[in-house]
Parts: sequence; structure tokens; C-alpha cells
Amino acid sequence: MEALLDTYNTVAATSVTTWFKACRVKDIPKNGGACVKYQDKQIALFNFARKGKWYACQNLCPHKLEMVLSRGMIGDQEGIAKVACPMHKKTFSLETGENLNGDLEAIATYPVKIDAGFVYLGFSE
Ligand code: FES
Repeated sequence: MEALLDTYNTVAATSVTTWFKACRVKDIPKNGGACVKYQDKQIALFNFARKGKWYACQNLCPHKLEMVLSRGMIGDQEGIAKVACPMHKKTFSLETGENLNGDLEAIATYPVKIDAGFVYLGFSE
């Protein structure tokens, strides 16, 4: 199961080599999320309309290795966009992936760009 976690590594905006066309902007509810499949990865994509920003992270919660983060509640903690896992409410920064209410390892985050009504996720492989 730990190998599953190794599937996910944060991609910096400066190291993107592939922009994957994930969906239409209108496919993702405002202030909600959805799961996008890319190769062997499940990516949680969020339209954080209250902040006017989009975020992407691994869908896999490192707590019990459940594929659930796309169904988590998004919110703000002292200016940091975060997602709370729907299972046991562990929260993670959507900006750095850091676990904000515990000592779990950070989740991987991915760059998002919007172009001509479509949402793209950045990958480096
Ligand atoms: S599985 Fe996510 S908090 Fe427990």
C-alpha cells in the first residue's frame, strides 16, 4: 500500500512538462471538487471560487489510504486554502500539501491552469 503513496509527488509550476486537459471549467462545481484520472493517478481537482483559484492534489488520503480527498470540504485556515478529508477530517494545505492538524506526511500538489474554458493539470513525467 505504501507504494501507492509513492505514485504521488508534488509538481512545481516550473517543472511542468505536460499539461493534461482534464475537463471543462463548467464540469467542476463552484467551491467543490472532482476526481480526475491521469495515467495511474487519481487527482483531486478543486474549483475554489471563493478565492478565485483552482487547486489539485492527490486524491489519496495518507491517513488510511482512501481515495477520498476530492469529496472533502474546502476551506481557509489563516489565508491558506485547505481540504478536510471526509473520513476523519485530517486537513491538508492545498498550497503546500502540509497536514495542518496532525503529523501525517504531506500530500502531493499539482499546478492547475485554465485556458479557453478548459482546466489543465501539470505533470512532470
Ligand atoms: S482517511 Fe482521511 S482522515 Fe482518515
